[in-house]
Amino acid sequence: MSDPLDAFIDNLQAQIFEETRQAFGEAGFERWRNPRYCGRMPDPDASARVTGTCGDTMEIFLKFDRERVTDAAYVTDGCGSSSVCGSFAVEMALGRSPDEIADIDGEAVLARLGRFPKEDEHCAFLAAGTLQAAVHDYMIKKRSRP
Ligand code: FES
Repeated sequence: MSDPLDAFIDNLQAQIFEETRQAFGEAGFERWRNPRYCGRMPDPDASARVTGTCGDTMEIFLKFDRERVTDAAYVTDGCGSSSVCGSFAVEMALGRSPDEIADIDGEAVLARLGRFPKEDEHCAFLAAGTLQAAVHDYMIKKRSRP
């Protein structure tokens, strides 16, 4: 048995889910509900922290083995859109070399999503820019290794 408040909350949640599904598409919606790869990595080989023009910050952590990304994670203090973009950006880096990751820009993240709100597209560029900065960190550390 549900009271009017429960029914109101259920309806509100269903409405938010539907609006988010419409805005992000199915893949983005699923990722919004289950943000994979989210969390700090305790011992990354490389990382970067970038604050976007919107004021939100993203941090990306990468682990490499034989020049390929074997593990990746992100955290952000930004909106749901930045979390979705961070999740896809690090997923796209998995298994790739630094050279291959160079192709992952904001447009590539948006293409992977398929659909995304125009006003949130900058979140994809923040995610991709942070990923590129993390790879840059890897290259610098690699060069300074004996
Ligand atoms: Fe700032 Fe999404 S609004 S990253």
